[in-house]
Amino acid sequence: MTRIFDPDCRNCPRLAAFLDAVKEKNPDYHCRPVPPFGDPAANFLIVGLAPGMHGANRTGRPFTGDHAGILLYETLHDFGFSNQAESVAEDDGLRLLNSRITNAVKCLPPDNKPVGAEINTCNAYLANELSTLPENSVILALGGIAHRAVIRGLSLRQADYPFGHAAEHEITPGLILLDSYHCSRYNTNTRRLTDEMFRSVFARAKELLVQVGG
Ligand code: URA
Repeated sequence: MTRIFDPDCRNCPRLAAFLDAVKEKNPDYHCRPVPPFGDPAANFLIVGLAPGMHGANRTGRPFTGDHAGILLYETLHDFGFSNQAESVAEDDGLRLLNSRITNAVKCLPPDNKPVGAEINTCNAYLANELSTLPENSVILALGGIAHRAVIRGLSLRQADYPFGHAAEHEITPGLILLDSYHCSRYNTNTRRLTDEMFRSVFARAKELLVQVGG
């Protein structure tokens, strides 16, 4: 069976132990693997890094309730990919339209830094999810780790597809991987990624979706 997510996964011992410890301190937090969110048949897949401590790890939905999610969900709404601009809780009525958000690593990592073995172990889920994408799709990778996880999940050579902000990689004529710097608080505060830069990536994603017929 092609599994894109396992809510009971404890394959990474360090992450499983960390989630148990965070749950002890925060009994009302999700503290489990965070599932992909959005349209299961979408032609547009956004790949983030991993749940944030007080965002997705608290609410159980990618980028929901944390700083990185503010710009992401506002931009998704501005470009017609959702019914509302805010994402605060699982029951807030938000629906994504022809889009889905997933993470390269489904569990909260200490210091927001999954190690290589964790990224690789979790890649089995991402690879399965990528294999469910319609043939005419656009993938948006947020940051270098997400980008490399996508390349690995597609069984491609990293050297052939270097990460770069706004870089476009034609995987097949119908499948394009587009890159952006991650919309993290650090990147937006330092203006490595501005709202305008992020919006122009989404404008390009829309054009590419038209190009591939998605
Ligand atoms: N929250 C997520 O779900 N993913 C990220 O990459 C960052 C915050």
